[in-house]
Amino acid sequence: MARQFWKPGNMLYPLPAVMVSCKRKDERPNIITVAWAGTICTNPAMLSISVRPERYSYDIIKETGEFVVNLVTEELVYAADYCGVKSGRNVDKFKEMKLNEAASVKISAPGIEQSPVNIECKVREIKELGSHHLFIADVVSVNIDERYLDGSGRFNLNQSGLAVYSHGEYFGLGRKCGSFGYSVRKNTDIQNTGNKNGVNIQSAGDRKQVKERNSGIKKRVKDRNSGIKKRVKDENSGIKKNIKDKKAGSKRNSKK
Ligand SMILES: Cc1cc2nc3c(=O)[nH]c(=O)nc-3n(C[C@H](O)[C@H](O)[C@H](O)COP(=O)(O)O)c2cc1C
Repeated sequence: MARQFWKPGNMLYPLPAVMVSCKRKDERPNIITVAWAGTICTNPAMLSISVRPERYSYDIIKETGEFVVNLVTEELVYAADYCGVKSGRNVDKFKEMKLNEAASVKISAPGIEQSPVNIECKVREIKELGSHHLFIADVVSVNIDERYLDGSGRFNLNQSGLAVYSHGEYFGLGRKCGSFGYSVRKNTDIQNTGNKNGVNIQSAGDRKQVKERNSGIKKRVKDRNSGIKKRVKDENSGIKKNIKDKKAGSKRNSKK
């Protein structure tokens, strides 16, 4: 099979596209969507985000030395995209996307209540790489939504409908096809994970659960998006009416 050899570029996908919230004292909080983010150390727990200096959030994070990484679910994808194309210089993203602030434990910047995981971070170092500056940060608190805790206290993050970003598009997580170390486990749970030939088998229970979760998510995303679309439509028609009124006014004035 022939292969093409491209010039260096970014092709490491899929990635989490996270919503990073930040806040300066006495100012409204802001959210920037970041895909150039990653876990960089287990102990101490550390992560990094890469941000272009021209972003409104850049100075906020640099000055305060704080930010919160909020994981994105399918329900939050619309808001994540919006926060990745609109600037906090011009809009209140929390308000526009009907997101609630979640008080942080160790830092002043709030997280996003609708996200299943808020990771509070303190900046340790900034590396000026080029187009993006790398913020290397310590994780100082991890705040999780109790809805995803089961009876035995296990956090079922993969039940929260996490989304990923790959090559310009957003996706929900696909079907489970294994679990950490299953390739060498003796007592493998092949029934619910996969087999060594790469053929995935799901139990009827698994399939039912996935189906129910997906239909719930789809409905919630639909309701949420139609609400937002209606609001944007109303706002646009208001703006159009203002422009029309202004034009009519200036025509009247020029006739005078
Ligand atoms: C999926 C997605 C991923 C993004 N990843 C990054 C990123 O890693 N670093 C960055 O600086 N900007 C990234 N952006 C762009 C910023 O989120 C965008 O410019 C945003 O409007 C900046 O907001 P602000 O001006 O309020 O800070 C991304 C946008 C999207 C939609």
